[in-house]
Amino acid sequence: MYNVFIMAQKQRDSWGSRLGVIMAVAGSAIGLGNFLRFPAKAAANGGGAFMIPYLVALILLGIPLMWIEWTLGRFGGGFGHGTAPGIFHSIWKKNRFIRYFGVIGIFGPIVIFSYYTFIESWTLGYSFFSISGKLHTLSDQNAMQNFLRGYQGVEHNIFFNDIKWAYAFFTVTFLVNIAVIYHGIKGGIEKLCNIAMPLLFVCGVILMLRVITLGTPDPSKPDWNIANGFGYMWNADFSKLLSAKVWLEAAGQIFFTLSVGIGVILTYASYLKKGDDVALSGLTAASTNELAEVILGGSIIIPAAFIFFGPAQIETIAKSGTFNLGFITMPLILNKLPWAELFAFAWFLLLFLAGITSSVSLAQPAIAFLEDEFDISRRRAVVIFAIVTFILCQPAIFFLKNGVVDELDFWGGTFFLVLFGLIETILFGWVLGMNSAWEEIHHGADMNIPKIYKFIIKYVTPTFLIFILGMWLFQEWLPVILMSSVPSSDKPYVLATRLGLIGFFIILAFLVKVAWRRKEGKNWFL
Ligand code: PFF
Repeated sequence: MYNVFIMAQKQRDSWGSRLGVIMAVAGSAIGLGNFLRFPAKAAANGGGAFMIPYLVALILLGIPLMWIEWTLGRFGGGFGHGTAPGIFHSIWKKNRFIRYFGVIGIFGPIVIFSYYTFIESWTLGYSFFSISGKLHTLSDQNAMQNFLRGYQGVEHNIFFNDIKWAYAFFTVTFLVNIAVIYHGIKGGIEKLCNIAMPLLFVCGVILMLRVITLGTPDPSKPDWNIANGFGYMWNADFSKLLSAKVWLEAAGQIFFTLSVGIGVILTYASYLKKGDDVALSGLTAASTNELAEVILGGSIIIPAAFIFFGPAQIETIAKSGTFNLGFITMPLILNKLPWAELFAFAWFLLLFLAGITSSVSLAQPAIAFLEDEFDISRRRAVVIFAIVTFILCQPAIFFLKNGVVDELDFWGGTFFLVLFGLIETILFGWVLGMNSAWEEIHHGADMNIPKIYKFIIKYVTPTFLIFILGMWLFQEWLPVILMSSVPSSDKPYVLATRLGLIGFFIILAFLVKVAWRRKEGKNWFL
């Protein structure tokens, strides 16, 4: 009787349909990274040639990690664990420390969430300024740039004298995120993704068709045409492949775009049932992301910028950074077209939908951790999460100009992904063991994964990851620790961010300790 009660209490949320979970994982993967980060990286790192390291990283890192996370997540869910500390512990019961490595799987998503939602909120703000016609009145690069800087609160100018507007849109974005997760997996996240994903594809296809049909807008400059725009994006410069940096950039992009190596897919997959397929579903979610990234992401911003700014300026534009591309270059281009307000609205709505389906996935691990390991109800967990992360978002908002977002992005969005991916791969291929792992992936599977992946997951993926980490340690460790590339006025902010991150990690590790002591019926603190 007592057991039945416990079982009933432990009933976890679940997905409503198979399509729903695929949409949700694809929603997490398809984000600002697909439409801004990818085109900027590809164009700056050899165009078509970039696709070689990109595809190698997709096949040897991205797809294996996608399968690993879907499988480990479903496995952990079977034991009532939806986050890495519990999932890792279920796999390696004898190791008392492995759960602390799992802390990264809650820490990383919260860190990304703390700046991602702010950037996402700019897209909501800009959707509003598109429709209101404000963006249409800004006719040159300078005006557009000042508008962005004023909006972000980086400077006070004729457009904005404080950060009020940005803060208001941030608050709305934040509350929408909280409302979605408050309604749970099936009632919140799945519903959102079922609506947002098709709408996102509609916006993406409309914008892509608009760009493809641009032709040669200025007859006096016949070379500034769409064919050359695609040529700039995709013509291969193979000499770039000799640089290790290009390979690292490609691997980093694969991690970021697929949302692997951070813990969110573990959590999403923990809501699957034991017999649900993971092999085909994981591959479908990854393929959907690639379609959105390479076809849509690759056909909008860079070819359009080429047509309007020409071969001489495109290089500078492509290297001007992700935000400049999305919030300055793209609205300037759209301003030159008929129906500018509507196309600009479609562009920022596309980014907003891409952003929100990713940010809710970043929130879910922390919620699952509180629910699963502390038996807190979902609603309470969401309230705690909202209070804590609202506070954690403030540094990104107020100290954007001091390098805080870059610092959070480096640790949360780059370094820890690779480290966590390596830990997961070793747990899967070596601790669980490749034979059991293979059986586990294929449990209920709707496809047979090619046998070669047994070898790839066991040897190639971890070696590749160790190589990336080793290269990073070798080339960048000291400069990063010493903050060599940080301007001296920003150093106190960057240092404070680092100390804050360390402190936050320790608090989460402590919570893991407390959770396990509670489960073992021991005193909490000793
Ligand atoms: N994949 C998202 C993008 O391409 O923008 C970013 C992201 C979301 C990374 C969720 C990691 C994550 F857990």
